[in-house]
Amino acid sequence: MKGDPSSRGFSTRAIHAGQPPDPRTGAVTVPIYQTSTYAQSELGRHLGYEYARVQNPTREALEANVAVLEGGSSGHAFASGMAAISALLTMVKAGEHVVASQNVYGGTYRFFHHILEGYGLQFTWVDSTVPGNIESAMTEATRLVYIETPTNPMMEVTDIAAAAEIARAHEAILAVDNTFMSPYFQRPLDHGADIVIHSTTKFLNGHSDSIGGVLVAGAAEHGEWFDFVQKSVGAILSPFDSFLTLRGIKTLVVRMQRHEENAGIVARFLNQHPGVLRVLWPGLPDHPGHDVQRRQAGGFGALITFDVGTYEAAKSLLDRLEVLTLAESLGGVETLISHPASMTHASVPAERRAELGITDGLIRVSVGIEDADDLVADLEQALGG
Ligand SMILES: Cc1ncc(COP(=O)(O)O)c(C=O)c1O
Repeated sequence: MKGDPSSRGFSTRAIHAGQPPDPRTGAVTVPIYQTSTYAQSELGRHLGYEYARVQNPTREALEANVAVLEGGSSGHAFASGMAAISALLTMVKAGEHVVASQNVYGGTYRFFHHILEGYGLQFTWVDSTVPGNIESAMTEATRLVYIETPTNPMMEVTDIAAAAEIARAHEAILAVDNTFMSPYFQRPLDHGADIVIHSTTKFLNGHSDSIGGVLVAGAAEHGEWFDFVQKSVGAILSPFDSFLTLRGIKTLVVRMQRHEENAGIVARFLNQHPGVLRVLWPGLPDHPGHDVQRRQAGGFGALITFDVGTYEAAKSLLDRLEVLTLAESLGGVETLISHPASMTHASVPAERRAELGITDGLIRVSVGIEDADDLVADLEQALGG
């Protein structure tokens, strides 16, 4: 694609941005540059590539692509979503403070609480659905506001623009984990966020066959820091995983549309089922975050959380499923279903899970792109009629 990618539509950008035909052969797909180093023609002369921890053309193509999709100035790909989050947290030093959404992904909580607190970083966990809670938690030492919206697994929606305003007023950075939405539905930088995080393991790659993470920075100085972190820490994404993720992103739009259509069908089915106590999906009009979600995102996504009351009821449902796959993770073409209390959020202490509403009867579904009728029929038989 020639010309400025930002002048093209989202689908065109997803397929072409960062991926001009290979200059040597004209290959339309970015090759997997499976090399650790690059020959230099004479001392001090090279083609801009010296060592693959620092530069790799396949990874660069993915980074450029995601940066364009999120509307940022640079992208940085890491070996996992958690590696991306670790790179982000190098912006916060001992003695500084972070305000974080209270029910972020369990692994993020584990990293912040069990590792970073030991290095002298301070965290205040807030219900960020109420912007005033973020404001009251800010201190002189606050360097970062860290939110996930919607959250995992309670589907709480935070107003990104309101959080950005608070962070800016306190000269702090706002980082948003946009994994659940993907840039197709939500672009946090447009609402004033400074940095976007993705576990590319999820919707961006979309096929449950790669682990990866990306940071997209709005400001050039943040991008330069992440370049330095990639080079110094080295938790970069491999060329093969970069290739898979680039390939996944080419179909992001059609997948997200189908994911959401199916999610709506499944959410409405669960919502009227007598065995289901409550359904959390931002697309349902009675969801507390519905209006904010409508305002700041182009859709509601494919994650649904529902409560069947008890651990026994959850186990009986999960054991009987035939089409939905019981597995951690989300965002793949196949429908994945999980039990947060014993799986993704097992590292969150039981009392804290109770405070957050992560009950033993809670189930999370990442609705895939199979035939919606098959998904509903499977849930119906597993729920017992
Ligand atoms: C919202 C969110 N952020 C980050 C992560 C971590 O990503 P990864 O598993 O790629 O390290 C996950 C993983 O489930 C997640 O759901």
